[in-house]
Amino acid sequence: MKKLTIAIDGYSSSGKSTMARRLAAAAGYRYIDSGAMYRAVTLYALDNGLTDADGNIDSDALAAALANIHIDFSPAGADGRQHTLLNGHDVEAEIRSLRVSEHVSPVAAIPQVRHALTEMQRALGCEGGIVMDGRDIGTTVFPDAELKIFVNAPARTRAERRYAELKASGADVDFDDVLANVEQRDHIDETRAESPLRRAHDAIDLDNSHMTIAEQDAWLSERFREASRRYGQD
Ligand code: DC
Repeated sequence: MKKLTIAIDGYSSSGKSTMARRLAAAAGYRYIDSGAMYRAVTLYALDNGLTDADGNIDSDALAAALANIHIDFSPAGADGRQHTLLNGHDVEAEIRSLRVSEHVSPVAAIPQVRHALTEMQRALGCEGGIVMDGRDIGTTVFPDAELKIFVNAPARTRAERRYAELKASGADVDFDDVLANVEQRDHIDETRAESPLRRAHDAIDLDNSHMTIAEQDAWLSERFREASRRYGQD
C-alpha cells in the first residue's frame, strides 16, 4: 500500500505535535517536528553569540553560519519521543525553553533559514510514510501531501496548555508571559513575508479546544483511514 505524506499545520501550542506523533506511531510512519528544527537553529545562534548589541539574533551572521548547522533526530527513546540533535548533541530540553521560544519566530522569518530547512524537510519526507507538523508544511514543504490538517484553538487555551507543560517540566514561568509569547508568535508567524502561517486551501480544519487527546486521536485516525482509502491503492 502506498505510504502517504501527512501535513499537520497550525498555531503554536495547538497540540499538533502530540496528535502528529501519535498518528505516526499508530500508522508506523516517521514523525518530524519541523518546529524543533527552527528551534535548534535558534539555539545555535544564541549559543554561538550570533546576536547584536540588543541581544537580537543577527540574521546575516546566522545565514552565513547555516552550513555549520546539522540537525538530526534520534530514534524514539524510552519516553516514546525522538530527540532533536544539533551537531550531534541532544538539545531536546533546551530547545523548549522560554529563551529559545522568545527568539524563534524572528529566526523562522529569515528567508535563508526557511530555504535551508525546507530542503532538509523535503529530503526527510522524500519517500512518503511521514507525518510532519509545522506552519507551512501543507502550503510550502509538501503542497502535494495527501492529507492536510489545520489545527486551531484560541490563544488563551493554547497558552494554558503551554503554561502547564512548562510548569510540569519544572520551569519558573508566569502565565501572562506565556500568553504574551503565544500571541506574539502568532502575529510574527502570520505576518512574515516568507511562507507565513496560512491554511492550505485543501486542508481539513480542526478546532480541538474541547477535545480530549483520545477524541483527537480518533478524529485524526478517521481522516487517515479516509485518505488511505482514497490514495493508498495507487
Ligand atoms: O511549533 P513550534 O512552536 O515549536 O515552532 C517554533 C517556531 O518555528 C514558531 O515561531 C513557528 C516556526 N515554525 C515555522 O515557521 N515553520 C514551521 N514549519 C515550523 C515552525
